[in-house]
Parts: sequence; C-alpha cells; structure tokens
Amino acid sequence: MSDIGLLHTVGAARAFCEAARARGETVGLVPTMGALHDGHLSLLRRSVAETGVTVVSIFVNPLQFGAGEDLDAYPRGFDDDVRRCAVEGAAAVFAPSVAEMYPQPPVLSLDFGELSARLEGARRPGHLGGVGVVVAKLFAIIGACRAYFGEKDWQQLAVVSRLAADLSLPVEVVGCPTVREPDGLALSSRNAYLGAAERAAAAVLHGTLRAGAALIEAGERRTAAVEAAMAEVLATEPLVGPVDYACVVDAATLAPREPLAGELRLLVAAHLGAARLIDNLGATVPT
Ligand code: PAF
Repeated sequence: MSDIGLLHTVGAARAFCEAARARGETVGLVPTMGALHDGHLSLLRRSVAETGVTVVSIFVNPLQFGAGEDLDAYPRGFDDDVRRCAVEGAAAVFAPSVAEMYPQPPVLSLDFGELSARLEGARRPGHLGGVGVVVAKLFAIIGACRAYFGEKDWQQLAVVSRLAADLSLPVEVVGCPTVREPDGLALSSRNAYLGAAERAAAAVLHGTLRAGAALIEAGERRTAAVEAAMAEVLATEPLVGPVDYACVVDAATLAPREPLAGELRLLVAAHLGAARLIDNLGATVPT
C-alpha cells in the first residue's frame, strides 16, 4: 500500500495539484461521494494507469439532494475508503467539510437547458444543478486534469462534459463503463439499501434495458414499442415500486428520437424498497 495524502482544505488540494503539475505530472481526478465500490475503483484504476497523480475527492454534496432524499442516510465509510484508495495507488484523497466547500450558501446556480430537462432533471429538480456546482468547484480547485466519471450516471456524465466544454475548462472528462454484478445489477452505493429479496429483484433493471436493446437490434424503430416492451419487463417484478422512467432517447442530447436512429441510450429509474436505482445501456441504429 502506498502513502496517501489527506487533503481537507481547498488550499491544500490546489497546492498539491499545482506542485504535481510543476513537476511535469498529469493529474487525474476521481470525484466521488465515498462509500467506494468496485465501480469507483474501476475509475480510480483507470486514472492511476493514465495519469501521474490521482486525487480522489470524497464529499457528500448536500446541494444535489432534494428535500426528503437520502442525504443523512447516504452510506459513509471514510477510513475504509481511504484504505482502498491507497491500495489502488491514489496519491491523495480530497475530503473537505461542507463548511470548507460552501463557506456561504452558493448563490450560483447552473442550468443545463435541454440536457437536464428530462429524466433525472425532471424527477429530481435541482439535482443536476447541484452536481454541476460541486463539479465546477472541484474542477476549479484541482485545475488542469483528466476527470473520470461512470457511465452509470449517463445524464450526469452528459452534464459535466458540457460544463467543462461550455466553460473552456482545462479538464478532459472521461466516461468509464458501468461495472455490474454477475446478474447485471449496476454497482451503486445505494444498493446498500436493498434487502435480500429486493437485491434479487433488482436484476430486472438490467433485464429491462437488455430487452429494449434487443428489440432495437431486431429492427424495431418505434420509441413507443421499445418503451412498452421495457415497461412490460419491469412489471414482471412485483417488488419494483414506482417506476420513474423506462425510455430510449438520443445518447448525446437525451431527447426523444422518432424513428429511432443513430447512437441511442436506454435508461431506467425505479424504486425498490428504500432504494431508487438508475441504470442505462447503449444501442446503435446505423444511419
Ligand atoms: O456521482 C457522484 O458520486 C456525484 O454525483 C459526484 C459526481 C461526485 C458529485 O457530487
């Protein structure tokens, strides 16, 4: 296990990254809210392989949780997270307090227009804006870097990519494939909320995505037909509670496409007991 720096202030994180770049190293950033699982570790491993110095940020960002959401219950395990980061070769963990990140409540708010109008943006008002603000702060603190995000949060990945592009930030956003359990369930810190029966049922999300993708692969080009098939698969699992969405959209704009063409993304969000799970899968219709 390598030595790992623990950075708790904005100044310390900025100085650490500036010193690394002054030595000629490239910096990799892996933004997280902690409770690290193998999905996070895949981002971390990629950053360690591709950059000179990897910083993992661990910060449960209050700004991206709505009223009644799981901010207080969100799984936390700081010591174990730091140990795992060290084992994987991260150079430092940046773990600021809420007061350090937000010495005063930010008046800044970010809106991503059409990119955040649907899906998570519609179901969790303020969520993507809150993600945008904290990621903008992380990019400002860490400076020029490659920043690694999971494809599991597809809309988040779209939003932070546009954040870096629209602000001409010296940050290359790198999307990394979703890591799954053997039955297809995407790894997520929120899987910890699932009881045993719910955990078994949760595989239906991936099954739903695969069913939609298979239909497209078989030649279906009508959005409604694909979405109806997805809803049918979800309905086979009685433990699935309210379904927020099960849909297919353009992969880049996240807008509906009719007829289905080009790079598409199938996305699902559904409640299972105390957990609200999201997942997505790509599909391509040659144009
Ligand atoms: O994906 C997450 O864990 C969070 O949304 C992120 C990107 C770390 C911002 O708080």
